Amino acid sequence: MSEISSSSAAQAKRRILVTSALPYANGSIHLGHLLEHIQTDIWTRFQRLRGHECYSVCADDAHGTPVMLKAQELGITPEQMVEQTRAEHHQDLQDFFVNYDNYYVTHSPENKALCETIYQRLDEAGYISKRTINQLFDPEKQMFLPDRFVKGTCPSCGAEDQNGDSCDVCGATYSPTEVKNPRSVVSGATPVLKESEHFFFDLPQFEGMLKDWIRSGALQEEMANKLQEWFEAGLQQWDISRDAPYFGFEIPGAPNKFFYVWVDAPVGYMASFKNFCDQNGVDFDPFWQEGNDTELYHFIGKDITYFHCLFWPAMLEGAGYRKPTGVNIHGFVTVNGAKMSKSRGTFIKGRTYLDHLNPEYLRYYFASKLSDGVTDIDLNFTDFAQKVNADLVGKVVNIASRCASFITKRFDGKLSETVLEPELVAQFHEAADSIASMYEKRKYNQAIREIMALADKANQFIDSNAPWVTIKEEDKQQFTHDVCSLGINLFRILVTYLKPVLPVLAEKAEAFLNDELNWESSQNCLTGHAINKFKPMMQRVEMEKIDAMVEASKESLVAAQPKSDPNSPLAKDPISDTIEFDDFAKIDLRIAKIANAEHVEGADKLLRLQLDLGGETKQVFAGIKSAYSPEDLIGKHTVMVANLAPRKMRFGLSEGMVLAAGPGGSELYILEPHEGAQPGMRVK
Ligand code: MSP
Ligand code: ZN
Repeated sequence: MSEISSSSAAQAKRRILVTSALPYANGSIHLGHLLEHIQTDIWTRFQRLRGHECYSVCADDAHGTPVMLKAQELGITPEQMVEQTRAEHHQDLQDFFVNYDNYYVTHSPENKALCETIYQRLDEAGYISKRTINQLFDPEKQMFLPDRFVKGTCPSCGAEDQNGDSCDVCGATYSPTEVKNPRSVVSGATPVLKESEHFFFDLPQFEGMLKDWIRSGALQEEMANKLQEWFEAGLQQWDISRDAPYFGFEIPGAPNKFFYVWVDAPVGYMASFKNFCDQNGVDFDPFWQEGNDTELYHFIGKDITYFHCLFWPAMLEGAGYRKPTGVNIHGFVTVNGAKMSKSRGTFIKGRTYLDHLNPEYLRYYFASKLSDGVTDIDLNFTDFAQKVNADLVGKVVNIASRCASFITKRFDGKLSETVLEPELVAQFHEAADSIASMYEKRKYNQAIREIMALADKANQFIDSNAPWVTIKEEDKQQFTHDVCSLGINLFRILVTYLKPVLPVLAEKAEAFLNDELNWESSQNCLTGHAINKFKPMMQRVEMEKIDAMVEASKESLVAAQPKSDPNSPLAKDPISDTIEFDDFAKIDLRIAKIANAEHVEGADKLLRLQLDLGGETKQVFAGIKSAYSPEDLIGKHTVMVANLAPRKMRFGLSEGMVLAAGPGGSELYILEPHEGAQPGMRVK
């Protein structure tokens, strides 16, 4: 080996604990979850590749009403269901090469003990109070109903079949006790109001601490700003108890009262690590007590920020534990520009993906798109196939395949003793620090860009020296040997830099190179070193496999909803009574072009649309936010009810309605006319 440069100065060994959010135990791992697990896994592998002591843990989130009801539906105990799901989730993740040191479950003795300790400390410190509240109760099922298990008529606009806490039609939010004609989603019975004593955690007492912590560098700036808004709205007492029947941990000294699932879920991070420590002789305390130079990071999606950035640090502080060094928040996965959708076949389970495609494609694609921000990440299948094929197969693996056979056949399987073009090698080595800092900051997209720019340079080097020509010239044998050897060395550096993202490709490269790749040794070149025969390392992505995966994802829905199924859309929403033609003619339907679409400050469900009717513009608030991002709508044509009486809403005047189909939520599809229809045309 010859020393070329040693750009990375030796770093002190860090001690790091990393977690991903705990998937709920009542559904399968899907591509949205995988973004997070892959992001975490790349970061963990990177830290280990750099020689740090880095542990990662996760678990299934076992508790709560939805899990309890799903188990009842399946006719098994929640414990049985949770254990089955945990095993399935763990296998899915491992098959994507996401390797946790422990993948546990929140329904565990460690978690119960830790929750009790934390609760008792919070109680002793005066942070817990009790208060009687009125809540809707299902008299048939004999259980209190969480907000989303109540449905009824919107108290604000009168729309039927709305959720217990908010209306898809007008965007109003309300308490389930205000809903008109309420019914229980569980039994269909009319709920009654019932009193119950609840336990509250005194979050407002932590306001000062939280404000400091949020600005301590623990959060991305955009999220710190977002949290500022929550402080302005005022922190509230947090209701941490639920009444039996509830699948969870009973609150000590309070029979039939259980911890709300969001109390024991984050404690599940500690419990999973505790379980790992006990089995592996690792010391638990330094990672959770104040005053140690260990680091703690949580990777989460933006939807659960409130729990991780307000409740969780306050619970930790109140119970005398350390707070996280960082909470790393990512955006949501969309597929082909829209929310993942079961009917379009873009709600793709991890297992369905694995049945058709190589997991490293997805790891690479997500890495190439992930930044340290919270913007959503679009998985566009055409882009996905192009990127994987062009970058990994076309650029990186190609370098080795172009050089390897000459080394094997003509030069006795050994790399040459000389390093040609030391300046080129130096460029590759010098990039190590900047690539490392991109990984460290979770700007994986920039790391990948830099690595691919180097791959281009390596290919240019081979092109311009054309070893396939010089190999035929008697006096150029040494030169050809040097060119191919340098090609292989450049490949070796590139694969080392990609190793956190592509562990299997790296393993194959290691077998070929007869060498173990790590960050430090990437700074040397292999000379006079024996390599092994080259074997293909990665196949091209085939579009047909992607299509088959999408088809299979559609099938799983169709199978779940046969036509005779009482849950089919027609059964839920039967065709209405007939009307006269004159009634229909009163509705002035027009083609409208969506000139602009934007989020509405403070509205969970609404987008503000500016609709161009070919001469006139109308503003409409549409409850389609959960199905579309504004940027996907702009420029599209749709159909609107143009003569609907304008309605004053909390956010402004709504001057019509756009037409959309579907049950609601992310399953909502706006109507789009055939090409040629112009804004303003009447629909007849
Ligand atoms: N059980 C809670 C987390 C408790 S952590 C103490 C939960 N579970 S979840 O299964 O709904 O989500 C798990 C993680 O996956 C969350 O971080 C969530 O943001 C993330 N995602 C779920 N769907 C997602 C996408 N479509 N895209 C990206 N991440 C998504 O919340
Ligand atoms: Zn309403």
